[in-house]
Amino acid sequence: MKICCIGAGYVGGPTMAMIAKKCKDTKVTVVDLNQSRIDEWNSNELPVYEPGLLEVVQEARGKNLFFSTEIDDSIKEADIIFISVNTPTKQYGSGKGRAADLKFIELCARNIAKVGGGDKIVVEKSTVPVRTAQMVKEILSESDNGHNYQVLSNPEFLAEGTAITDLENPDRVLIGGDITTAGKKAVDTVVNLYAQWIDKDKIITTNLWSSELSKLTANAFLAQRISSINAISALCEATGADVDEVANAIGTDSRIGSKFLKSSVGFGGSCFQKDILNLSYLCKHFGLPEVATYWDQVVEMNNYQKDRFVQRIMDAMFNTVSGKSICIWGFAFKKDTNDARESPAIAVCSRLLEEQAKLKIYDPQVDYTTILSSLGLEKGDNRITFCESAIEAASETHAIALLTEWEEFRGADYGLIYSKMEKPAHFFDGRNLVDSKKVTDAGFTLSRIGKV
Ligand code: NAD
Ligand code: UGA
Repeated sequence: MKICCIGAGYVGGPTMAMIAKKCKDTKVTVVDLNQSRIDEWNSNELPVYEPGLLEVVQEARGKNLFFSTEIDDSIKEADIIFISVNTPTKQYGSGKGRAADLKFIELCARNIAKVGGGDKIVVEKSTVPVRTAQMVKEILSESDNGHNYQVLSNPEFLAEGTAITDLENPDRVLIGGDITTAGKKAVDTVVNLYAQWIDKDKIITTNLWSSELSKLTANAFLAQRISSINAISALCEATGADVDEVANAIGTDSRIGSKFLKSSVGFGGSCFQKDILNLSYLCKHFGLPEVATYWDQVVEMNNYQKDRFVQRIMDAMFNTVSGKSICIWGFAFKKDTNDARESPAIAVCSRLLEEQAKLKIYDPQVDYTTILSSLGLEKGDNRITFCESAIEAASETHAIALLTEWEEFRGADYGLIYSKMEKPAHFFDGRNLVDSKKVTDAGFTLSRIGKV
């Protein structure tokens, strides 16, 4: 069996590395247009930081796992092609700012049709709007190369920072296909691939459209829980209730459950906002404006939470940060990743820069170039200083804004850090991470999300 995966990103790389590790008789080639990304996958400085990933890659690379820019050759020889390219929010034309931009998916389908090489199973791994498989099928069926294609949907549910454990032991694998003899045979082929390490009762099969829609729905439900608890965090601040205590109290109800109830400065990442905007766009497209408005609120609440966090900084610092130096701890959208896409840090830093603050930024994994480009700044902008450690970033600043829950911030020596800061020194904990007693004992004025 030969697999080609188009797209060597945060999903394609780790997912295929796990398939190669678990299915030693299968040759897995991950291809991408981006030569430097492929070069990094072929080095020990992987483009994706993910605990445990390097070990998995090293175990299979060069044996049955390959990273290459020879896209057409790999497509030609493959029995199964996974499409794992990006599906960002469209930034132009109709649906701008809401719809998913499917141009990369379409290009892949056209390329598969052009290259040929025999009958193939084509699997959507990317997150796509429901009915995208129809477009892929039409492009493939209209090619005159004489080959048969079965199009499946196999959305990915891994979360960054825990990708390896999620892939090794997923809650479920979802595979959607046509309810025809050929469709079921293709679904069985992909089921048997995953069944090499995952219990069959965790592998769910559905029709194509249910599978595509389940992915958007899962992300919408997860994000909705965060916006719900963040909404309550504002009420906690106004009333003296403690949001962690409320989350704990409601989370022990087994019908609610305890996960995804951590209030924060807001959710980030490349998918939650994009997928909800896309879901809402689809609802409008299918004549369901009330449903669209319902889901839009999840994103609106998230934006409100980021604004509210900056407003708390302003309120605590005499309503001005102009000329003041603020330390930013953590730029990634969550811990254990080098990904800063849609990170709440972007919104918070941009607002602080608008208010003429100076920023000293430290993140254990996000590089300077990514931070600069995320903020739309040029190299050498003297309003930003990049630091090599948490303590360096805090020195000679008036306040710390903790935006990512990296473990090292939890265990920092707050007394030492406080001694190096301008007074009064503020600590704004956007993740409810630090031990409040230790921080206040060190001398800081502490503000936390959802706590007075
Ligand atoms: P990414 O941007 O990290 O990677 C996509 C890669 O595809 C890029 O390297 C790009 O160069 C490549 N590419 C684009 N068009 C190509 C083409 N025509 N031929 C070859 N290569 C091409 O994106 P990602 O984070 O891996 O996400 C991919 C998809 O998976 C998205 O639809 C996303 O919504 C979904 N998803 C992401 C995550 C996540 O945690 N990041 C989790 C689940 C699902
Ligand atoms: C999310 C989903 O969890 C994955 O199942 C899905 O596959 C993926 O999106 C995707 O489709 O891209 P990811 O965005 O990588 O994964 O990370 P999460 O752990 O979901 O965190 C997302 C954001 O929510 C982070 O900013 C995180 O800090 C925040 N969050 C999470 C909270 O603020 N509170 C919580 O309780 C949980």
